[in-house]
Amino acid sequence: MSEKRVIVAIDGPAGAGKSTVAKEVAERLGYLHVDSGAMYRAVALMAVENDIDPSDHNKLVPLASHADIVLRAGTVLLNGRDVTAEIRLPAVSQAASRVSAIPGVRRALVALQQDYANESSVVMEGRDIGTVVYPHAQVKIYLDASPEIRARRRVADEGGDYERVLCEIRERDDRDATRPDSPLRQAEDAHFLDSSGMDLEQVITEVLRIVRSKTSNGRGVTS
Ligand code: DC
Repeated sequence: MSEKRVIVAIDGPAGAGKSTVAKEVAERLGYLHVDSGAMYRAVALMAVENDIDPSDHNKLVPLASHADIVLRAGTVLLNGRDVTAEIRLPAVSQAASRVSAIPGVRRALVALQQDYANESSVVMEGRDIGTVVYPHAQVKIYLDASPEIRARRRVADEGGDYERVLCEIRERDDRDATRPDSPLRQAEDAHFLDSSGMDLEQVITEVLRIVRSKTSNGRGVTS
């Protein structure tokens, strides 16, 4: 019997808890954690810093195609520079949602994302991991929560005005779900998890249970 790499795809809207859950699940299983949104944010940061309209595909597709984006142990390197903090700025979040609607940018970043599974088993989070990046992932989770709960969690973590945060979340959800290329949607074979009434530990436990039931206790096996 030989061991096969396992791919766990976690998709869902902003603020559903994907990042914390994906990071913890990866750590407990000894898999690589890849936050695909950080890549779109890195391209968005290039747009913001160079004063490029985040919808300008003529400028952004070549930039994204040649960018050196490396995700390692929670750190994001863009062309050798640590941009872990900058990519979380509100202006970058807004730009990322526009940049990620450009098909050429998506093509470049999806290719980078697919490379990670050549290295090891991965937990990858995003919007299109189970539908586009890894349609054959052994485990697919669609993690959701109501917009109100997501806004409340965001305000508790980062501060800000609840009504404004809720409005921004709704706007981003709408853009992510209605863009023509790879919109946010649940893969048919994904497990739906609504985290609205759950705490993080309950979500992590449930995801680990699903992974273990779909694999040989977290290990991929081919006979
Ligand atoms: O998960 P996040 O909020 O850090 O993602 C930033 C933006 O990138 C968000 O607007 C959605 C987009 N995104 C995407 O289109 N596809 C992915 N696989 C990951 C993120």
